[in-house]
Amino acid sequence: MAVAERSGARRPSSRSIVVVLLLVVMLIADGGVEVPRAEGLSIGINYGQIADNLPSPSRVSWLLRSMQVSKVKLYDADPHVLSAFLDTDVEFVVGIGNENVSAMVDPAAAQAWIQRHVQPYLPSTRITCITVGNEVFKGNDTALKANLLPAMQSVYQALAALGLQGRVNVTTAHSLDIMGTSFPPSAGAFRADVVPYMQPLLGFLSMARSPFLINCYPYFAYKADPGNVPLAYVLFQPNAGVTDTNTKLNYDNMLYAQVDSVYAAIQALGHTDIDVKISETGWPSGGDPDEAGATPEYAGTYIGNLLQRIEMKQGTPLRPSVPIDVYVFALFNENLKPGPASERHYGLFYPDGTPVYNVGLRGYLPPMDYSRGTRSKVVQYHLSLIIMANHIRCVLYIWMKPPKPSFADPSFPITLFSYFSHDSDTGRQ
Ligand SMILES: *[C@@H]1O[C@H](CO)[C@@H](O)[C@H](O)[C@H]1NC(C)=O
Ligand SMILES: *[C@@H]1O[C@H](CO)[C@@H](O)[C@H](O)[C@H]1NC(C)=O
Ligand SMILES: *[C@@H]1O[C@H](CO)[C@@H](O)[C@H](O)[C@H]1NC(C)=O
Repeated sequence: MAVAERSGARRPSSRSIVVVLLLVVMLIADGGVEVPRAEGLSIGINYGQIADNLPSPSRVSWLLRSMQVSKVKLYDADPHVLSAFLDTDVEFVVGIGNENVSAMVDPAAAQAWIQRHVQPYLPSTRITCITVGNEVFKGNDTALKANLLPAMQSVYQALAALGLQGRVNVTTAHSLDIMGTSFPPSAGAFRADVVPYMQPLLGFLSMARSPFLINCYPYFAYKADPGNVPLAYVLFQPNAGVTDTNTKLNYDNMLYAQVDSVYAAIQALGHTDIDVKISETGWPSGGDPDEAGATPEYAGTYIGNLLQRIEMKQGTPLRPSVPIDVYVFALFNENLKPGPASERHYGLFYPDGTPVYNVGLRGYLPPMDYSRGTRSKVVQYHLSLIIMANHIRCVLYIWMKPPKPSFADPSFPITLFSYFSHDSDTGRQ
């Protein structure tokens, strides 16, 4: 304040004020956390966190928004993540883990879960879907399989009781091994042991107008039989494709064939009104010596070509007018995932924010967590810029006579400019 009073005594010309002003605006823009709004990329990304070396959610929020990612899928409802995306346009799918599914059969538990993990974030964080369980029919937990639909129904009713039905979808994500037959696509059928669960589950999805989610990995087919599965067909590279003899539809890639086999299986159980979305797909950039094709080159080709198809808003041969809706797996390499080495190499990014391969996806991962009290040189540098900008703002504000423009107003730089141009025109004292 002492500085402000002194400079108030000797007033510089309007022109020099404008120069100072430009500097201030630049400083405010630099310190003022200006991140591009998400609108560009129509791809979704799975944000898995089975790792002990990942950046904090607030840094990841910068990374995703700087990449213009508009859809993120979580495997839980991590409050740190959901809070880090308040007031952004990013859409979220949140999850109830398999270990919590059976508890949700109790309507009171489902309501408590929604009230704690979903409702407080709405509408500032755009939660649009809840997945109840992940790949439940892949395992052999019969109690879990039996509880899945009742848990989904409780979650749906809890949303309805809170007036949120229609704003948040309720579904579950399946592994492709629910399929008994998947080729040709028109012959797609669920496994016989899955059908008794699937029939009522489809009835629910149809009633709740919620999508059917499937995790599809053409990589698994390639890895299982690299000698016979053509690489070009699984990597979306130019190839003659295969024709479904029943429908005469031609498939130039395995992912679309898998999705259409799911549509056929759903139709065989009497439903044509349910959208199929790809809740996971990806390709590992590394693996064990016996895991064929797990290289950065193939992973980059798969993801790069998939991105192109998504940008083209392509549909599958069976649903050409419905653009494929895809969540890529995954944002980061996750170092604590069990299983073969490939499981720890599905990330688009290393934990330090550098891309694993170049498919034109680049983002800015801030070097430090601004929301925590970490004192590094970078944070101090930014803080000193912000403090300096605030000092200059303070000085300017004391100079001005009413009506003073409001600093809180988003159009502040403009009103400030007009304040001073007015000042120079009328020659205020
Ligand atoms: C989910 O399950 C875990 C492990 O059993 C438990 O610790 C946690 O409290 C459960 N969460 C909810 C919301 O029920
Ligand atoms: C499920 O299968 C695994 C092996 O696939 C087996 O170890 C386990 O005992 C089975 N559990 C049940 C409940 O059958
Ligand atoms: C819910 O799913 C349906 C079917 O896929 C979709 O049309 C709708 O936009 C989804 N609702 C929200 C809130 O995302």
